[in-house]
Amino acid sequence: MEHQHEQELLPPLVAMVSSPGMGHLIPMIEFAKRLTNHHNLPVIFIIPSDAPPSKAQTTVLSSLPHGISHIFLPPVTLSDLPPNTKPEPLMTITVLRSLPSLHQTLLSLMTSHRLSALIVDLFSTDAIDTATELDIPSYMFFPTTANNLSLVFYLPQLDQKCQSEFRDIHEPLNIPGCYAVHGKDFATPLQDRTNEAYKCFLHHAKRYRLAKGIIVNSFFELEPEAFIFLQKNDPVVYSVGPLVNQDTIVDESEFKVGLKWLDEQPHESVLFVCFGSGGTHTSAQTDELAFGLEMSEQRFLWVLRCPNDKVENDSTFIADSNVDPFDFLPNGFVERTKGRGLVVPYWAPQAQILSHVSIGGFVCHCGWNSILESMVNGVPLIAWPLYAEQKMNAILVSEEIKVGIRVNVGEDGLIEREEIASVVKRLMEGEDGKKVRNNMMDLKEVGANALKENGSSTKANI
Ligand SMILES: *[C@@H]1O[C@H](CO)[C@@H](O)[C@H](O)[C@H]1NC(C)=O
Ligand SMILES: *[C@@H]1O[C@H](CO)[C@@H](O)[C@H](O)[C@H]1NC(C)=O
Ligand SMILES: *[C@@H]1O[C@H](CO)[C@@H](O)[C@H](O)[C@H]1NC(C)=O
Repeated sequence: MEHQHEQELLPPLVAMVSSPGMGHLIPMIEFAKRLTNHHNLPVIFIIPSDAPPSKAQTTVLSSLPHGISHIFLPPVTLSDLPPNTKPEPLMTITVLRSLPSLHQTLLSLMTSHRLSALIVDLFSTDAIDTATELDIPSYMFFPTTANNLSLVFYLPQLDQKCQSEFRDIHEPLNIPGCYAVHGKDFATPLQDRTNEAYKCFLHHAKRYRLAKGIIVNSFFELEPEAFIFLQKNDPVVYSVGPLVNQDTIVDESEFKVGLKWLDEQPHESVLFVCFGSGGTHTSAQTDELAFGLEMSEQRFLWVLRCPNDKVENDSTFIADSNVDPFDFLPNGFVERTKGRGLVVPYWAPQAQILSHVSIGGFVCHCGWNSILESMVNGVPLIAWPLYAEQKMNAILVSEEIKVGIRVNVGEDGLIEREEIASVVKRLMEGEDGKKVRNNMMDLKEVGANALKENGSSTKANI
């Protein structure tokens, strides 16, 4: 009791465990900023790893605002694992082997702070046990939708019920708290149930419920049915979104030409075409996209990558510029679309572009962060999912909340130029484009309100 009393007098601190890699860290950072800015709660990131911190990690972590600090746990060794171990088990085992040092770190923080919460990410659910041992309330940060959370909650039951691979079930699945979705559109680790990655996913899915609460980067008004369903069960689900990074972190000079060009274009007239850092196409699809954009006669800003059947990993070429993605464009394309279209190689500051007044549409691969970034800027979408699981978000965008138009994939898996031109025209100047634009503008406002003083996401904050 004495001890408990002393703890209560200490200053509060929230600890966040983020599994290795940047993907999980970035969305959690936005939530950390929210806690420090709006609730005056300092946050410390605790990062397990199997290697010394990467440059990307240290750059991002050391540039965070006052009130957010970090600790790298001593790297664990994974040299006993088979060389072809999948990323999911690798991350999970890294966290498991870091639990003793996490325990030590938390104990030492507790000598000077009252730990109000330990927040874990998707692959750090084993840290919930450490929190429980130390009597710290544990929460989980879920970076995608409430519908997806319903699906993950249901997975252990589905696993019991279903003998075949999920992708072989032909009807859409009836999952409580989630819109109808086909097994073939589940996340990649769920596509092969004999694989370690699947077992790992299932392990975490079963452990979600051990957390005291789950923090979802979405907002009530966006998916009311899923949230209402989730609120009927334990653990408590908090909607805290839409949280996206809106700071201008890039040095504008890197993209000066592009921004100057955008400044010269009419209001809401430019289609932004960008498939994210992991998104590339075949050369046939790159051709169709180029011709489709040309035929649409609309303005566009296209972030071009090398075709994945010609260049295995184009990011290795960014440094030494051995390969020019322009070499893979149809002959004369750049000249024919000059003035109306701008093609930039490899990368562009997506958040900054989406906030530009000239942008009127976004061809999006349907990663959740990209959808949220478009939403906070009121930019309607063309949903072009690249991976199986992004089809789930494409359904949300085009059929549930109707803030985008989805492209139709041809029988051979190719999205043809006529289809692209037609969808682009519909979005930029058609009647259905007007509708989805209005819906997106409404959602922009509802999302902004959710984050205001009495908004649903602010009130849901822990
Ligand atoms: C591609 O190259 C980059 C830079 O060298 C590297 O960081 C990345 O891991 C590579 N990706 C793949 C899929 O090989
Ligand atoms: C759903 O959540 C899982 C992690 O629990 C993730 O791997 C998957 O990509 C998510 N799906 C979507 C459509 O966001
Ligand atoms: C939020 O709600 C409180 C209590 O009902 C009220 O006093 C306050 O004025 C509200 N703030 C805003 C911005 O509406």
